[in-house]
Formats: sequence, C-alpha cells, structure tokens
Amino acid sequence: MNILITGATSGIGQQLALDYQAQGQQVWAVGRNPEALQELQIKGLHTGQLDLTQREQSLEWFATLPQLDLAILNAGNCEYINLPEFDSSSVQRVMRANVESLAISIEGVLPPLRNSENRQLAIVGSSAAYLPLPRAEAYGASKAAVAYLAKTLRIDLMKEGIDVSLICPGFVKTPLTDLNDFDMPFRITAEEASKAIQDGIRKRKAEIHFPKKFTLMLKLFSWLPDPLWTRLAQKMVR
Ligand SMILES: NC(=O)c1ccc[n+]([C@@H]2O[C@H](COP(=O)([O-])OP(=O)(O)OC[C@H]3O[C@@H](n4cnc5c(N)ncnc54)[C@H](OP(=O)(O)O)[C@@H]3O)[C@@H](O)[C@H]2O)c1
Repeated sequence: MNILITGATSGIGQQLALDYQAQGQQVWAVGRNPEALQELQIKGLHTGQLDLTQREQSLEWFATLPQLDLAILNAGNCEYINLPEFDSSSVQRVMRANVESLAISIEGVLPPLRNSENRQLAIVGSSAAYLPLPRAEAYGASKAAVAYLAKTLRIDLMKEGIDVSLICPGFVKTPLTDLNDFDMPFRITAEEASKAIQDGIRKRKAEIHFPKKFTLMLKLFSWLPDPLWTRLAQKMVR
C-alpha cells in the first residue's frame, strides 16, 4: 500500500508512519522538522518537508506523489486560551494549523487517492470537539470544524468510493500533551493510539475514537442539558 501521513515527524503521526513502514508499506511522511524527517528517511520512508499552511508550495509537492491508497491527515497543534486575556492571534494560529492546513492537504491528496482502487482518507480531529471544555475555545472550535469537514466529505466522496474516517483521540502521550499543565485522565501511549487507528482504518470505520472508557464518557456528557454541563465544567476548572 502507498500511505501518506502528515504530522509524521512527532507523536501519533510518527508512530503510525514507523508502524506502517515496519509492515512493509510504502510511507510518505510529511512534516516541518528537518532532523526528524532525515531520521525517517534513513529508516526508508519517503519524506516531504512542508509547512502545510503554505498552499502553493504544499500543492506543488502533493502533485509529485504517485497513487495513494490511504492518506492520514494528522498534522495539528494545540494552544489554550487563558482568560481574562482573549488572544485572537492564538485562535488564528490554531485555525491555520488545524483547519487551513487540513483543507490544503485534502486538496493535495484527492488526485493521488482517485488514482487508486483502495481510496481511503483518515482525518485526525479530537474528542475535545464532543463538548465545550474549559480553555479550549481555540482548539475545540478548530477540531469541531475538522469534524464537520470530515463528516461532510464522507457524504460527498462516498459516490467516488473514497471512505473517510474521522479519528477522535482522547489524551495520548506526545510532545504536544507533554506541555499540558493539568491531569489527563486515561492518557495512553502513542503506540496504543497507533494500534487503535490502524484497527479502525482496517475496518473502514466512519469514526475511530479511543480510549473507549474516556471517549464514551465524553459522548455521554455531551447529551447533558447545556446548563448542567456548564456547571460541571466550571467545577472542573476549580
Ligand atoms: N496527543 C493527544 O492527546 C491528542 C488528542 C486528540 C487529538 N490529537 C491530534 O492528533 C494530531 C497529532 O498530535 P500529536 O499529539 O501527535 O502532536 P505532536 O507530537 O505535536 O505532532 C504534531 C505534528 O504535526 C505537525 N505539524 C504541525 N503544524 C504543521 C504545519 N503547519 N505543517 C506541517 N506539519 C505540521 C508537526 O510537525 P513538525 O514537528 O515537523 O513541525 C508534528 O509532526 C493533532 O492533530 C492533534 O490535534 C492529539
């Protein structure tokens, strides 16, 4: 299989790239960090050094790809809002990293996916989008946009035989969550996350969410009336 993974220089994406490569798949790993990309290249992966927020440069590189059986669009970032200061530049950065770069990647991978029989697209969102969480004004809003984009694409690409999966992880130990200054319930390793994602992709699931104990609990909370959830969420902050 020919597999492209964005955000493959760190965390979940890097683990997925190495796991698929170890299984003998041809992997194209995309990221910005030149040292991490060089290490992946030494291990036999194809690499693309791209800032995915840069549309022209990114699309030029995607146009050089052979046919793709699977694209996992995983690149992203997280910043929290710390009121009373509402920093709109933080919202702009997160939207660019999580939503704009995703849209550019989708435009780039659709032609090489259409050249393949398998045709699978997996998009990494977050279980944070299931309900409003404290300090997640920017990150949660960006991942809600990602979820809508992925679910809409699933409808529109079905007639072309391209299956779209939305991936909603709970907490995974990566350089991104190493920056968090709060407890992260049910946090799992990148290896465990990679296994759950591969399993869901193999089954061509519409939504791949894990760890189940955490994501099902969040889904349950999302059914609560808004005023009740708001009170519970305020208690979490305290
Ligand atoms: N870890 C969690 O608990 C968790 C939970 C839910 C969802 N997620 C989502 O999972 C995805 C991966 O997260 P992670 O925890 O593995 O984070 P990570 O270790 O920080 O990795 C993020 C990856 O995205 C790449 N990236 C970010 N902005 C980019 C850009 N403009 N252009 C190209 N590449 C870019 C980074 O590349 P460089 O390092 O080369 O710049 C890196 O490879 C993200 O979308 C995140 O929102 C993570």
